[in-house]
Amino acid sequence: MNLRKNFLWGGATAANQYEGGYLEGGKGLTINDVEMGAEHGKKREIHDSIQNDAYYPSHEGTDFYHRYKEDISMFAEMGFKSFRLSISWARIFPNGDDLIPNEAGLQFYDDVFDELLKYGIEPIVTLHHFELPLNLVTKYGAWRNRQLVELSVRYAKTVMERYKNKVKYWITFNEINALFISSAPWHMAGILYKEDENRHNTMLQAAHHQLIASALTVIEGKKINPDFQFGCMLLYPCTYAATCNPEDQITVRNKLLSTYYFGDVQVRGKYTNTCSSYIDSLDGSIDFELGDEAILAKGTVDYISFSYYFSGIEGVGEDIEMAEGNLSSGGKNPYLDMTEWGWQIDPIGLRNSLNSLYDRYQVPLFIVENGIGALDEVKNDGSIEDDYRIDYLRQHISAMVDAVEKDFVDLIGYTVWGPIDIVSAGTGEMRKRYGFIYVDKDDQGHGTLNRSKKKSFDWYKKVIETNGNYV
Ligand code: BG6
Repeated sequence: MNLRKNFLWGGATAANQYEGGYLEGGKGLTINDVEMGAEHGKKREIHDSIQNDAYYPSHEGTDFYHRYKEDISMFAEMGFKSFRLSISWARIFPNGDDLIPNEAGLQFYDDVFDELLKYGIEPIVTLHHFELPLNLVTKYGAWRNRQLVELSVRYAKTVMERYKNKVKYWITFNEINALFISSAPWHMAGILYKEDENRHNTMLQAAHHQLIASALTVIEGKKINPDFQFGCMLLYPCTYAATCNPEDQITVRNKLLSTYYFGDVQVRGKYTNTCSSYIDSLDGSIDFELGDEAILAKGTVDYISFSYYFSGIEGVGEDIEMAEGNLSSGGKNPYLDMTEWGWQIDPIGLRNSLNSLYDRYQVPLFIVENGIGALDEVKNDGSIEDDYRIDYLRQHISAMVDAVEKDFVDLIGYTVWGPIDIVSAGTGEMRKRYGFIYVDKDDQGHGTLNRSKKKSFDWYKKVIETNGNYV
């Protein structure tokens, strides 16, 4: 089997890392607007409100807000068939709980979608990508509070109604399982655990609220436009047993419980034995409301989207050294190299992940994040020879093609993370670059924001032109 003729090649971004314009057009503050930049190995500092002398990378991002036309024309030049972006909830409802949406915010995304459609680029829209109006944290305690279900569905209905003829592919929550992986799920749920709270129950309850919100969004969305396609979005933590000790295989299973937990509810429409096993392992509990089970059963997704960057190993042995990663990390694997940020490079892991997800769920898959964060050097003549990026992507795309052609996995598309340089979610750095397009900006926020093509730009263009044959 070949890649689909209309395979959705493209790139993926998130509003809080890219858009900027943090107070323009009536936008309200988000949880990202009070989060400082840091560096590799250091935690990003989070404030209650904006401090005068602090630098917050989300305020300007890499300025998509003002430069979307230029950027989209470059994506079109590369031949993008799709572009994944997120809507900033606070641009539509500045406080999150407003009754009337902000027209300037709605108009901004109308303009962006029109620009994409002008070039035949399909928008893939994430409703929640590690972002939340700040007011919902201070006033409601963020996703701890059941009221966020109603508020988020109001937001979702508003944008789905407005863009019903422009957007077909929706993703409800970015890397929803990251909520279980992070020890401080600020990005995922606006939560920093308090000392006196039962962390496990807070986490399970916040996840339940998001799962109900996701299901209601699907239910309402299908009423607005039955052709809408909804995806869940998982961070896929590809994991191998450290040895052939059968106990190690159990540690692999346990590691994946927190991912399949969400896949099961969002695809199968119910809390399965996998979920019960995870809840039990935490000695946790969830408060259900009457009708929740019916909502989950009805609001299942059409496809699974996921991010894949690296793999790790797990086992019972005490000598396993840890590698790094985006939230989820695993043990070091002697067969693999790693990036400058300590993420293990494993192209075959992408094929393994595609097979694991497809074997388990049998619904179409969509790779909506993959790529390498690297230091790029600008030569005197302005050129950037990012052969390491080409190598990484070439090997991953080739493994992806194997999964489709040899393993018959049903795959909708592939969007490279950060096709243009954007702020790193993990560190807030600019120097950790993923793009085919370089943006002149440094970690302190200095630079012209000018765009220029890296060597990988023309390479990816050829990959798309040949529907993956040029790898
Ligand atoms: C994923 C997120 O976890 O990884 C993105 O969905 C993020 O928002 C990406 O940017 C890469 O991580 P980082 O920390 O290198 O930006």
